Amino acid sequence: MARLVVAATTLTLARGLQQPHALRTLSRLRSAAKDALEQHTERVQTGAGPGAPSPERAAHNKRQQEVFDSAAEFFASPEASPPEVEATLDALAKRICEPSRPEAAFRVLDVGSGTGCLSRRYAAAAAGGADVTGVDLSPEMVKAARAKGGNPTYVVADVVDYAAGYEGDLYDAVVFNACFGNIFDRSAALRAAAKVLAPGGRALITHPLGAAFVDELHERDASVVPAGLPRTLLDMEELVSEAPLTPAFVEDAVPYFSEFVRD
Ligand SMILES: C[S@@+](CC[C@H](N)C(=O)[O-])C[C@H]1O[C@@H](n2cnc3c(N)ncnc32)[C@H](O)[C@@H]1O
Repeated sequence: MARLVVAATTLTLARGLQQPHALRTLSRLRSAAKDALEQHTERVQTGAGPGAPSPERAAHNKRQQEVFDSAAEFFASPEASPPEVEATLDALAKRICEPSRPEAAFRVLDVGSGTGCLSRRYAAAAAGGADVTGVDLSPEMVKAARAKGGNPTYVVADVVDYAAGYEGDLYDAVVFNACFGNIFDRSAALRAAAKVLAPGGRALITHPLGAAFVDELHERDASVVPAGLPRTLLDMEELVSEAPLTPAFVEDAVPYFSEFVRD
């Protein structure tokens, strides 16, 4: 409803753009929307967002945080991204941004953004630049991502909490790169993606090293990687039985790439 009111007001204002008071009101509306988004982000980051996590999800996320806080230095180092990985990430970012258009910034939510290795690439990969939010459970990974600079905004949160009660502008793409197997409840994460995606927007699961690599991680330590990646359209269907997402495509190769479209 609020969105409709803002849209209608914006239209009225656009008609009277020559009037200085209309410009002032437009700028106040923009600033109110920005404030609302910042307040939402603060609520999510301080755990004051809607709905407390179950004890199981909280325990799982605590372990993720510990593991990735202590691995952040490695993930931020050149060792973690040799030239072949860099090239794969460039190609992934390009492919993710294929539907972008020159007249609008492409809006991406990068889930499990880590040190921002993919988040920073969208601005150059999208035809009209990109407006990127990275969301990650690990404060140290987010700190490393912020230290690397670039335009993305980073939030420390579980994607499920980030999406609950989200009222900001909807995203064109929600990307789970090299993190989908780490997530406590993959269906809940996809429902969260659907909540923040614009109609026709895409939820994408990608992994530069492929699904077999994720299976190995799962076998090594299921407390960190509780699941693998969906290998078929049927696997994808099962994950989104309660979400308004339609499985569109899966390429079970190296790199791995799968895509759902928001109904
Ligand atoms: C293997 S790292 C990958 C980081 C980055 N995407 C990359 O490609 O380098 C997985 C990341 O997912 C994050 N993560 C796991 N579950 C998450 C969740 N429910 N919400 C947000 N981030 C999550 C972890 O904190 C970790 O930083």
